[in-house]
Amino acid sequence: MDIKELLLANNQKDLLNIWESLAEKEKKLLESDILSQDFELLDSLYKASLQESCVSETEDIQPIIFPHSENDLRREMWHATGMHLLKQGYAAAFTLAGGQGSRLGFEGPKGAYDFGLPSKRSLFALQAERLLRLSAEAEKQIPWCIMTSPLNHQETIAHFEENSFFGLDRNYVRFFPQGTIAALTKEGTPIVTKNNRLALVPDGNGGCFRALAKSGCLAWLVELGVRYVFLCNIDNALVRICDPVFLGALAANGKHEAIAKVVAKRDASEKVGIFVYKNKKPAVIEYTDMPEDLRELKDGENLVFDGANIGIYAFRIEALRKMQKTPLPWHTARKTVENIPDSLKFEQFIFDAFPALNSFATFGAYRDDEFSPIKNAEGNDSPQSAREMLGNLHKSWLIQAGVKLSNDKLYEISPSLSYAGEGLSKTIFERELGKNILEF
Ligand code: UD1
Repeated sequence: MDIKELLLANNQKDLLNIWESLAEKEKKLLESDILSQDFELLDSLYKASLQESCVSETEDIQPIIFPHSENDLRREMWHATGMHLLKQGYAAAFTLAGGQGSRLGFEGPKGAYDFGLPSKRSLFALQAERLLRLSAEAEKQIPWCIMTSPLNHQETIAHFEENSFFGLDRNYVRFFPQGTIAALTKEGTPIVTKNNRLALVPDGNGGCFRALAKSGCLAWLVELGVRYVFLCNIDNALVRICDPVFLGALAANGKHEAIAKVVAKRDASEKVGIFVYKNKKPAVIEYTDMPEDLRELKDGENLVFDGANIGIYAFRIEALRKMQKTPLPWHTARKTVENIPDSLKFEQFIFDAFPALNSFATFGAYRDDEFSPIKNAEGNDSPQSAREMLGNLHKSWLIQAGVKLSNDKLYEISPSLSYAGEGLSKTIFERELGKNILEF
């Protein structure tokens, strides 16, 4: 089928008119965009967007009760198991960094954002240096896959180049852009940019399974012998990337195909996905889809639906393989695209994989230890709140290590000294203050 037939068969007369009006060179470019799209899919997504779909009333939604792992007696065993995995080269990290960070108002890749730590470490630097520390401890390189988008791919790589890959062996770091999908006007027509290209937007972090396979990175991990993959969002300043305890917990449980960290929700309005049982299967309902009555529901003082998704997951490699072929649902967002308000953007969400798995579980964690995302320019989940939470956490590590701190200062400890609070002492504090330990 040639391009003309293709567009006519899919009721895209307007797009055809635009294409026909272009000079040869521009025609070729728009043509390549058009051929990259599945018009039947776009049509079905458009039709579905006309029906307001939230969570349907016929669905059975129950809260998930999540025990905290911090006091679990198996923690040491999980840690030892996780370290064994790292030493054997059985574990890898995978960061989802294809998002646009529009709420923060920062133009570049979010991971390159300097959020004002005294060291000026970016979010990527924090993840990279924590991996470096773990690699050193395990005496083994940890492979790291980073999913970008076509919009930030080159800038992301440039950030790593400028920082000499933060000391990591660059042979073990791979970047690949995620897929894109055409944005539509509210009338269902693909939006054409002022450069006469289709407005193609990232297809959501659920595109990670497809993109990992398509890029060859899944095959690379298999070839390296990786069996467990730690996945995380880019925007969390406290993420314990490749957390051995978490990976160990997955490996020690013979059954689960994936696990996810969960913390108690801050308050009813916090914009986080919520872990629930949906029709008896574990699932996440995104904040945009959570019915208001459930969001606000309380038992005494406590929220009933309080299991917040913090974008930290671990998958068995077989589960990643399986997900590459399992279709995920699409979600519709109405946003301004190319100055056209109420345009339709379609996204898949990574956590929609969970109901498709045979066995999945949540893993309770503490917000103050592990979750401080940077999403907004100010207030909660902002650069300032992330600096404060990191500063307070690292200060608590020093106090636990016996350092007497009777000031109201905060501290930033280089991951080269400590990954999660271990290995600190009064002597180290005195030696490293102003070097690998910074006061602010
Ligand atoms: C996300 C979660 C939400 C969770 C919250 C915790 C999803 C869909 N939602 O919400 O349940 O409570 O984090 O902080 O995961 N990304 C891509 N490609 C895309 C879109 C996003 O790689 O097309 C990446 C982002 O770079 C980021 C992560 O996915 O690392 C989360 O995306 P973001 O848009 O920040 O989701 P939130 O709305 O914050």
